[in-house]
Amino acid sequence: MRIDDLDTPCLVIDEALALANIAAMARACADAGVALRPHAKTHKSLLFSQAQMDAGAVGLTCAKVSEAERVAPAGSSVFVAYQVLGEGKRRRLAALRERNDVITGVDSAHAIAEAALVGTRANPLPVRIEVDTGTHRTGVSPAEVPSLAVQIGRCPTLRLDGLYSFEGHVYNSSSAAERERIARDAVALLVEASRAITSDWEALARSVGATPAVPYYLRAAGATELRPGAYVFMDANQVSLGAYWEQCAATVLATVVSTPTESRAVVDAGTKTLAADGVPRGKVARVLGHNLWVTRASEEHGIIECKGDHGLSVGQRVRLVPWHVCPVVNLADRFALLAPDSGVRWCPVDGRGCSA
Ligand SMILES: Cc1ncc(COP(=O)(O)O)c(C=O)c1O
Repeated sequence: MRIDDLDTPCLVIDEALALANIAAMARACADAGVALRPHAKTHKSLLFSQAQMDAGAVGLTCAKVSEAERVAPAGSSVFVAYQVLGEGKRRRLAALRERNDVITGVDSAHAIAEAALVGTRANPLPVRIEVDTGTHRTGVSPAEVPSLAVQIGRCPTLRLDGLYSFEGHVYNSSSAAERERIARDAVALLVEASRAITSDWEALARSVGATPAVPYYLRAAGATELRPGAYVFMDANQVSLGAYWEQCAATVLATVVSTPTESRAVVDAGTKTLAADGVPRGKVARVLGHNLWVTRASEEHGIIECKGDHGLSVGQRVRLVPWHVCPVVNLADRFALLAPDSGVRWCPVDGRGCSA
């Protein structure tokens, strides 16, 4: 099968570009002496989990237990960077531990108490304390870390593995200098919080996330592990924060279905294919190879608008680089893996919809 044989809209992953992104990240982390634990939430596929492991990742990160069940290769180390609450999830986490080396996140006495029910005295569950370094989502302030560490220390079924943070606020940065400051501050906060727990603080993991901050984490000595996710495919948002269009491996193949005016064309990919998560005004997706954007979308229509003549014709096929690739992948059952000779083969999105 070739790309021209695909019906549209269709998620297409350029395998060579994705593997190049995986290799470049692995090399950068290895050169800096920092462990790489990619977040699988972007590709949600065993194929790319395995490729990341083969390239030298120490393990994977997953957002949810169900995601880890589907996309962590058997035997691998997986960090569920989330608070695992409720009996059903605890049971699944315990079952996952029979197949994988599992670490989880905690940021409250409640989450610690629940995690303690999953670990055993013979096989304590490694946990990491989530620290809020400025995203103001989950995570405790650095000042609260020592008391959580004491609580973990009192649980014989838990082992404190380290600290982690996610610098989501880097997505609101407006310059490389600001991204550098965010990364440096985060690493410094984790080092300081680790020192406050134990004199043996260097033995603790200090794990940071977020693709746009990677170059700066690498320069700021102190992090032991990086958890980028989006880097595997990149997207228009990443390009706005320092990546290159040439790195964008995920596109939605679409067909122009209507050209109502010279300056407006419509494709058959709307929000049910392209998602529209956190999209700034006028930037749902970039039309690859054209100076055009899908500026807005309804469920099944993507609307390309420009100042001059779009130059597109009905029936023409275009490839769209989404603003935020992660929810786009999660909308697809499978993707077409594109080879350099334009051949394609289907691969499942193994962790599609795994949000539990
Ligand atoms: C906890 C955590 N770690 C790492 C990441 C990866 O970040 P990015 O997609 O910017 O690479 C995310 C993304 O949402 C996250 O929530």
